[in-house]
Amino acid sequence: MRLTRRYRFAASHRLNTDALSPQDNARLYGKCNNPFGHGHDYVLDVTVEGVPDGSGQIVNRDTLDALVNTQILARVDHRNLNVDVPALAGRVATTENLAFAVEAMLKERWTLPARLARVRIAETPRNTFELDTQ
Ligand code: NI
Repeated sequence: MRLTRRYRFAASHRLNTDALSPQDNARLYGKCNNPFGHGHDYVLDVTVEGVPDGSGQIVNRDTLDALVNTQILARVDHRNLNVDVPALAGRVATTENLAFAVEAMLKERWTLPARLARVRIAETPRNTFELDTQ
């Protein structure tokens, strides 16, 4: 059985890599390369998978919320993803890379009996990224 729990955060980013010239960055990332960045209201869905225990639940939701608050929301909400999130250091702050960073940050402290099955991040109403985790 799977449970998906939804969280929200706001953050800014700029898509840019030091490996390319300013012109090539602008060509590759378009307006997402604008120098002063821009923000999104991200929607994060965390999916856990497991078997209900004696309480009839696959995971204690307060425990999951506490983990997500500490490991993710405290680190990304109202932050600049390019500079404030060590798990993204050296990577372009795309939402693809953010999904991998969220997986890594959750697994740092994962003690829940249920398995982390998926990280899903909606960046805009048109762009949603899903990462099936191991
Ligand atoms: Ni963006």
